[in-house]
Amino acid sequence: MAGHIPEDKLAEVRQAADIVEIIGESVLLKKSGKNFAGLCPFHAEKTPSFTVSPDKQIFHCFGCGAGGNVFSFVMKRDGVGFGEAVRSLAARCGVDLPERPLSGRAKRRESEEGSLFEVNQSAADFFRQALLQQAAGQPALAYLERRGVARATVERFGLGYAPKGWDHLIGALTRRKFTPALLEKAGLAVPRRDGSGHYDRFRDRIMFPIHDERGRVVGFGGRVMDNGTPKYLNSPETLVYTKRRVLYGLNHAKEACRRVGSAFIVEGYLDLIALHQHGIAHAVATLGTALTPEQIRLLARYAGRMVLVYDSDDAGIRSARRCIDLFWKEHADFRRGDVFREEHADTRILVLPEGHDPDSFLQVHGADAFRRLAHDAPGIITFVMEQAVLRHGLGTEGKIRIVDELQDHLSAINDPVARALYVKQLAERIHLEETVILERLKAQAAPTAATRARARTADRSGGQPPENPERFEERIIAMMLQFPEIIAEIAKGAVLENVTNPLLKAAGEILVRHRFSGSQQLPELLAKLEEGPLKQTLVALAMDDERLTRRGCQSLLRQFIASRQKRVNGRSLQAAIEAAEREQNEAEVMRLLIEKQKMAVRREKQKMSALRGK
Ligand code: CTP
Ligand code: MN
Repeated sequence: MAGHIPEDKLAEVRQAADIVEIIGESVLLKKSGKNFAGLCPFHAEKTPSFTVSPDKQIFHCFGCGAGGNVFSFVMKRDGVGFGEAVRSLAARCGVDLPERPLSGRAKRRESEEGSLFEVNQSAADFFRQALLQQAAGQPALAYLERRGVARATVERFGLGYAPKGWDHLIGALTRRKFTPALLEKAGLAVPRRDGSGHYDRFRDRIMFPIHDERGRVVGFGGRVMDNGTPKYLNSPETLVYTKRRVLYGLNHAKEACRRVGSAFIVEGYLDLIALHQHGIAHAVATLGTALTPEQIRLLARYAGRMVLVYDSDDAGIRSARRCIDLFWKEHADFRRGDVFREEHADTRILVLPEGHDPDSFLQVHGADAFRRLAHDAPGIITFVMEQAVLRHGLGTEGKIRIVDELQDHLSAINDPVARALYVKQLAERIHLEETVILERLKAQAAPTAATRARARTADRSGGQPPENPERFEERIIAMMLQFPEIIAEIAKGAVLENVTNPLLKAAGEILVRHRFSGSQQLPELLAKLEEGPLKQTLVALAMDDERLTRRGCQSLLRQFIASRQKRVNGRSLQAAIEAAEREQNEAEVMRLLIEKQKMAVRREKQKMSALRGK
């Protein structure tokens, strides 16, 4: 995955980029024992659970589970891929990287993306100039003023005006050596049907450039200034613009989102702009489309809690349902351990009073009133509940429908405490016995992957030491990290074959495969791993070293190997006894029974000494 960056260069960057220094640029770190601690930049918290180890050059948050090496940090902080993180760190630390020897296709794609960003930026400049410096832009400027958009806001969001006519933009940009073909690819020019060249897509419209989270122009929205249709005309999807992956305003909002720990999600261009202008900068817009999982993932990098703002109940319900699925269902947190966080459970739905969108509400009632509404907004599940009550009423029929409607959502909640609380809430709200609702959920619930996995672990752990098997497995891997000299023994004893948690098993196998030799090797090893649950597991275990002692670990390991041996021996002994009985070989049966008894005594002794050893 290091791709095209040579290993020795990676090592150079790793050594040059001290993790404490890099993280210290964006997180206030305080020395705490061997480590540094601070408030996690990836989730909202009041007491520091974010830890950075200068020795191991890794970070880990005990609150949200984020963790990794210096590259992982930059990837997560900036929302970039591995290659880009390495490049930005290299640039910062003065390490020269070779030009990337990309494949022909990747190179073409990259340069094509580059030209699209460039032509988009030039178009944005052109529109801005037309708005601010040309007579033709006057009515547009007046329109924006009428809509309450301040001059500073116009500049901050880079708003512009696309002049009336068919080829103003094409003319200006081709003079700057952009080809019509490129303008077409960027969605700025449309080919004439008769094949005689192109015309401007955007004409006589207020232009809203759409940026990605890093501030590059990926597309545009253009609004008419009268009642013409369509009200908004948007860029088509291009190589650099995938609508479901973009949140309008995120480039301006991300710092505030991180600082506040939450984000407003609104629908429209002017809604977003109004919020920012009213000092509510932790806000983004979906641009009229339904909120997508990709957008949630993107935003989740910056904000934990989200407040979805809608101007109708219907839109609110649809969105709330999607979010319940995304946030609560186990597939979301299982597959992408980095996405789901506790605070997502606190996502709220804000439906504005009839007839208002955020823009008009702010103009009339102001920011404080908006904040109050947000403060009182119900959580997504409460919202869906209340909507169901509104729609079906509390008659007998109504109650049945309400439970029907909610049972899917309730059983999707994989945190048993939260589920119990919501069941209670529903029971009280519709005056029904809790047990009735629980019965209903039970009848419906097919075993989930998680419960199946748990059941499996429980089955297999029969012969293991009397400890939570997951916890025990965790300690084995943590031990490998802390006392690498034990790894050979673990490999020889085929210990990992008996580790049931697949993540822990994979983590152990990696340590064996790389002949892990101690924490000084950790940064290099982590650099080889993809971002994801496996890497996070390793980092978490590597951080977790205070609680282990070598003696305790070795005794645990002996127990583990012994219990495994015992099962093997026990099984073959029992088989031998049965065979001897079938052959009526009394003497052999006797001998084997004595052997079995001896084994039981040995086992008992082992157990006692293990207990004493702890
Ligand atoms: N939208 C769009 N194309 C349309 C209509 C709407 O792309 N023809 C998107 C825009 O992003 C718009 C959002 O959906 O901002 C919300 O639409 P709407 O509520 O109709 O408009 P407002 O944002 O309120 O726009 P305005 O206040 O300028 O009327
Ligand atoms: Mn509006």
